[in-house]
Amino acid sequence: MYEDLIEKALFARKNSHSPYSKFKVGVALLTKDNKVYTGANVECSSYSLTICAERVAAVKAITDKHKVFKAVAIASSGKELIFPCGACRQFLSEFSDNMDVILIKSKNDYQIYKLQNLF
Ligand code: THU
Repeated sequence: MYEDLIEKALFARKNSHSPYSKFKVGVALLTKDNKVYTGANVECSSYSLTICAERVAAVKAITDKHKVFKAVAIASSGKELIFPCGACRQFLSEFSDNMDVILIKSKNDYQIYKLQNLF
């Protein structure tokens, strides 16, 4: 069902700018009208200014006037799946009813959660 989104998240990881943590995160976001926006984490030497991959994809979609999200797929360069941070959960929740969150370990190994269940 989410194969395309998963592949795009894995691909988007390549564009991560993460010289400090060396931890790459890639995201693919599906909007209500079936557009896909990708994002990767962008780090800053002042670490609190780092922007997670989820919010990079979200602001791309929002500033393109696609403001309702159906699903987000998240891949990292780590071996385990990663959960979105609290700030990203809050951010995504303001632009979705109760979107699917797909946490990717590898192309064929992933878990699907509802955003509200992660709060
Ligand atoms: N990061 C994300 O981009 N998304 C997440 O869901 C968790 C963490 C980034 C922030 C930082 O650049 C790096 O991963 C390590 O925390």
